[in-house]
Amino acid sequence: MPKTSFTLCHGDCLEVLSGMVPESVDLVFADPPYNLSNDGVTCHAGKMVSVNKGKWDRSRGVEGDYQFHLAWLEACKRVLKPNGTLWVSGTYHSIYACGRALQQLGFHVLNDICWFKPNASPNLSCRFFTASHETLIWVRKDKKAKHTFHYGDMKNGAFAGDILKAEGKQMRSVWSIPCTPPSEKTFGKHPTQKPVKLLERVILASSSKGDVVLDPFCGSGTTGVAAVMHARKFIGIEREKNFVKLSERRITAALKK
Ligand SMILES: C[S@@+](CC[C@H](N)C(=O)[O-])C[C@H]1O[C@@H](n2cnc3c(N)ncnc32)[C@H](O)[C@@H]1O
Repeated sequence: MPKTSFTLCHGDCLEVLSGMVPESVDLVFADPPYNLSNDGVTCHAGKMVSVNKGKWDRSRGVEGDYQFHLAWLEACKRVLKPNGTLWVSGTYHSIYACGRALQQLGFHVLNDICWFKPNASPNLSCRFFTASHETLIWVRKDKKAKHTFHYGDMKNGAFAGDILKAEGKQMRSVWSIPCTPPSEKTFGKHPTQKPVKLLERVILASSSKGDVVLDPFCGSGTTGVAAVMHARKFIGIEREKNFVKLSERRITAALKK
């Protein structure tokens, strides 16, 4: 069994990425700021709360946000191995800018996945549809690259809890996975923590044991938890010290299991 390990870097991802060895990473999963913190309100656990996630999530305007996504995606491309792949998650606030930047940088799109949240919070205004999904774009570095995809595992794995997935059927591009459960928040809270199930699927589908998985916006460390659970090596970058500490607690606990 390949040895797993994890490294957490406290700092700005652009600076940390510029110091990394080129072509050293097999898989990037990035959950960048969604730039949706605009002082509006949303519904959480049945209550009206502010949508603001933190200073890091404020928009710099359409062009500023686009230039930011272009810069970090270019930095990730430099460290990705020739056959490596990259995932970006987002909502309509950010995903179109990320998609345009990916195309401009010459990445080749493999899939756009709709992550459907069957237990999404209701819409309070009742003036438009309830937001209940996020988009994940999956790309390889180059059109001719030979990327990893564990087709058989995706076809045969039952993926408990996914109402859209039947064992033995090809996995489709709509994934039904519930929002992050409270049981995954026992080490502390992060406002945009992803469910481990989502990251397990990404990692099992598109990397192999012993591979190096990088998350440039590590947050609470969900990608690291899923990576070490499945014997991958993890590198996480995060700008907020408290989130680095939270990631460390979560990933260390996952390693002990
Ligand atoms: C959407 S959250 C990621 C959440 C993560 N997927 C999880 O499951 O916990 C984005 C994170 O990126 C961090 N961040 C924002 N800008 C950054 C930058 N330039 N470099 C490194 N981290 C950054 C924020 O502090 C935040 O924790």
